[in-house]
Amino acid sequence: MQNQLKSIFFLTAIVGFISLAAMSPILQKDDHRAKNLKILPKDINNDDLKALTDNFKTALGVKCDFCHAKSKEDPKKLDFASDEKEYKHVARDMMRMTNTINKKYFKHHEGNESVAVIQCMTCHHGNKKPQLALSP
Ligand code: HEC
Ligand code: HEC
Repeated sequence: MQNQLKSIFFLTAIVGFISLAAMSPILQKDDHRAKNLKILPKDINNDDLKALTDNFKTALGVKCDFCHAKSKEDPKKLDFASDEKEYKHVARDMMRMTNTINKKYFKHHEGNESVAVIQCMTCHHGNKKPQLALSP
């Protein structure tokens, strides 16, 4: 049940964006639209983006500033669109990898092509770098 719930969450998080955004023009009237998306749908709404980035935070045990650089105008804020931080690039690669694993190797899962079985949490378990052995 837990696994199924997780799959459903990630399905909404990654794959659901595409169909949801396509079906609902209302979602595209978002004032604070993301400016620099290379993997996620460009018209993703704020709630879905927030759910996804909260998921990254938990899976890696980090804060937003692990991947996002400080704003040049106001150092108290983060410039989410900036690509300055190396970890943001790593995260994009990880998203590509995770999507590919799911698409290629889990396409027969429960007869549903779009269920994302593997997530950031599957490997990371709350660590920046996945642990290779159980801690003593
Ligand atoms: C593990 C790295 C990582 C963490 C942690 C992370 N993000 Fe992100 N974030 C990304 C990546 C990668 C993208 C770009 C995705 C793409 O290119 O499709 C992104 C994009 C965004 C965007 C869209 C910016 C734009 O205009 O293009 C926002 C807003 C955002 N993140 C907010 C947050 C918030 C808030 C947090 C903390 C709760 C957070 N992120 C934590 C990796 C991360
Ligand atoms: C199949 C397992 C796996 C999955 C799934 C996975 N990662 Fe990773 N990730 C790793 C491994 C292993 C490393 C460490 C690589 C190294 O040591 O060079 C890593 C490293 C990283 C790093 C760099 C951390 C550091 O301190 O150097 C980031 C950022 C990251 N992953 C983000 C993500 C995000 C975001 C997702 C989900 C979209 C994700 N990962 C999914 C295995 C995975």
